[in-house]
Amino acid sequence: MFKKNSMYVVLTALIIAASALTACQSAATEEAAVVEEPAMEEAAPAEEAAPAEEATLAVGIVLPTKDEPRWIQDETRFKDALTAAGYDVEILFSQGDSAKEKANVEALISKGVKVLIICPQDGTAAAAAAEEAGAAGVKVISYDRLIRETDAVDYYVTFDSIAVGANQGQYLIDNATGTGNPLYLYAGAASDNNAFLFFEGAWSVLQPKIADGTFVVKNSSEAVALQDTAELTRDEMSKIIGQVTTNWDFNTAKNLAEANLTATTAADKGVVYILAPNDGTARAIADAFGTDTDVTQFYVTGQDAEIASVQYIIDGKQSMTVFKDVRTLVKDAISAAVALLEGNEPVASGAYDNGVKEVPAIQSAVVTVDKANVQSALIDSGYYEASQFTGLE
Ligand code: BGC
Repeated sequence: MFKKNSMYVVLTALIIAASALTACQSAATEEAAVVEEPAMEEAAPAEEAAPAEEATLAVGIVLPTKDEPRWIQDETRFKDALTAAGYDVEILFSQGDSAKEKANVEALISKGVKVLIICPQDGTAAAAAAEEAGAAGVKVISYDRLIRETDAVDYYVTFDSIAVGANQGQYLIDNATGTGNPLYLYAGAASDNNAFLFFEGAWSVLQPKIADGTFVVKNSSEAVALQDTAELTRDEMSKIIGQVTTNWDFNTAKNLAEANLTATTAADKGVVYILAPNDGTARAIADAFGTDTDVTQFYVTGQDAEIASVQYIIDGKQSMTVFKDVRTLVKDAISAAVALLEGNEPVASGAYDNGVKEVPAIQSAVVTVDKANVQSALIDSGYYEASQFTGLE
């Protein structure tokens, strides 16, 4: 749980102001990048201004996998921001493997980075890599996902992940009428602390609506057994997540959805409500539900505003996504890294308990996007280009 400190209100105002600034900067950056790219590829004639020199920032970045568009978004936004600031920084991917992640961290330590920005593949397994970095005098910033069970985490930049889950749950509630609506629950990987935060947020709004009969959970006996419990312990959540985890994997999600549809009857279908934890799994689950002839209509959630899911939303195949503006997260991470390099404390608006320590944190807000606001939230805001999609009105 995110604990706000007393400066929260003032800091929130500052963060909003900074975000507005970043939005302007990002738009400018994107234009600049278009102009600069050819100059970097071709040899510049002597009389032309030389491209800005790239300085090496003593920061290394480790991201979980290239196999999910979400993390490619982060890589792209990091590159945009760092190029604009004139820095050259190495970004390594762990490809879903904690051993590779540790090797990446060791490689960065041996190259002399002073700050590590790392999104852990497995929040607890990453503690060893963080400790190794700490022992080498490297400051560690946990990026989007919290590294757990170690004090070797200096700072955490994240989105409001409880709100992500709450927005997903609320979307299903807002689209349900009457009682007895079939609800299918899906969750992220249990090795990712965020999976618990998303589920906690979703449960906080869905549980009263399950308890009052608006929804009936169809694919988790553990959720049914706990349906009168408003606040779940981590162990209780583990039991439910254990039954409905997608492991953040498209195939696992698709196979699980298909197995759930096989195990339920036509009476458990009709108009169904699906809590899918992110866009990749939402598309896989939507494809499975879309081919079941007993499912007449379905509402399915997501998060990340991945391009493919934005197209699914435009096409009516996914109901919503939760937009997490990665530009803000990248900006916060770079600001924190620069503060740490300069020997300062990064600005924190609260803290997250990682099981061992209260990690100072900054978190940013999220936005629900569906067909009604896809244009204003994602295109008019400059996050994506209209030309990346078909069928936009
Ligand atoms: C991130 C999500 C992402 C998921 C799967 C979570 O930790 O917050 O944005 O979809 O991991 O990679």
